[in-house]
Amino acid sequence: MNNSEEKTADIYNKYIVPNYGRFPLVPVKGEGSLLFDEHGNRYLDFTGGIAVNSLGHSNKTMVEVLTKQSSTLIHCSNLYQPRIQGDLAKVIVEEVVGSPGKCFFCNSGAEANEGIIKLSRRYGEMSPAPSGQPRREIICFKGSFHGRTTGGMAATGQEKIRSGFGPLMEGFKHVDFNDVSALQDAITEDTVAILLEAIQGEGGINVASIEFLLECQKICKEHNVLLLFDEVQCGVGRCGTLNGWQSIEGAEGIIPDAISWAKGMGGGFPIGAVWISSKKVRDFNLSDILAPGSHGSTFGGSPLASAVSYTVIRKIIDDNLCENVRNLNEFIMDSIEIDEIPLLSDIRGVGLMLGFVIDVEELEKLESFRISGQSPSIYIVNLLSKNGLLTVPAGADVIRWLPPLNVDKNEVKEAIKIMKVTLSDKII
Ligand SMILES: Cc1ncc(COP(=O)(O)O)c(C=O)c1O
Repeated sequence: MNNSEEKTADIYNKYIVPNYGRFPLVPVKGEGSLLFDEHGNRYLDFTGGIAVNSLGHSNKTMVEVLTKQSSTLIHCSNLYQPRIQGDLAKVIVEEVVGSPGKCFFCNSGAEANEGIIKLSRRYGEMSPAPSGQPRREIICFKGSFHGRTTGGMAATGQEKIRSGFGPLMEGFKHVDFNDVSALQDAITEDTVAILLEAIQGEGGINVASIEFLLECQKICKEHNVLLLFDEVQCGVGRCGTLNGWQSIEGAEGIIPDAISWAKGMGGGFPIGAVWISSKKVRDFNLSDILAPGSHGSTFGGSPLASAVSYTVIRKIIDDNLCENVRNLNEFIMDSIEIDEIPLLSDIRGVGLMLGFVIDVEELEKLESFRISGQSPSIYIVNLLSKNGLLTVPAGADVIRWLPPLNVDKNEVKEAIKIMKVTLSDKII
């Protein structure tokens, strides 16, 4: 049978490992905030590749850079010094973080987190507990998500991600998110780092309180513990500030010891990064402890990936996309009266990282939902998709909006209208 005559779903069933519950949509073309399927249907893409497509689909500048760089130099190995990787590190250090440090490049969020886990392990060896034993324990939080690798999974605070893959890597303790006293109680002589997402994404859009963030900072200083921010989903403009934690009022001045990124920094081209503070600890500099031979990645920061990411980050900064994100957040919050939408009970999040909480009790009244066998979030994502709006489930009862940072106000208006019409029980 000719490949084009075979149904896509049949090819997936036969040849693709079923590790995703995929929606029945075959995308063929993207344009800005729009996605088109094989039948020519048009969707407003507020999934944004799950917080990846910062500049939307087929962004002209990105396409130009991809074309130019790929006809010049795609890959050359980290044995050499491609200039563009250095330029990318410089913009991250000087403009994104704005504090002295150094970068390491990899290819994904999980891999970036592996990097900061290894940094912590090395730091724990170099600054041991009073007993002389290396400090090994990283405090993480319930509801967090740090990736699917063995280290990322062990750091993740969600049982559904971890279960069935034991024994997991040792050295992680999970504490209730935003619980200051639980955090204080969790610190021991063995603690070497605190790892958190300031705005938890996969866990359902949970925003850290300022009290909690400041306590993390205080504890880290007092106990010589590293403060690690996972900005993979909430970073690089997504929250209306260059760094996710800075969107939380009062947290603007916090400077962590290390940061991980991926997703939006490449705008769709795979790249991850780690920034490590150049702070001096005793006789060494933190950003230099991963010495030659201690860590690496064949593809990390290739000329092609670096050129694209450099362009994406420069555009986010130069086009002031953070302002667009903040303005649209305000517009969305002003335009949606939660009481007017029976199937929703709350909106939470910051910038264009928004979680719409489903009123499950109300949804249960619908026979079509009860017989669907689907979780509330999957059921609602399917309904919205039928009406032309793509969104992402976050846990069982939250759906997310993660549109491009340069999404247009008229597109946001259209998305709000689809939400209102679709989630009004009279119409269902
Ligand atoms: C906060 C956070 N960290 C890490 C990851 C893992 O990133 P990747 O899928 O690129 O490995 C994700 C992915 O959703 C994430 O949201």
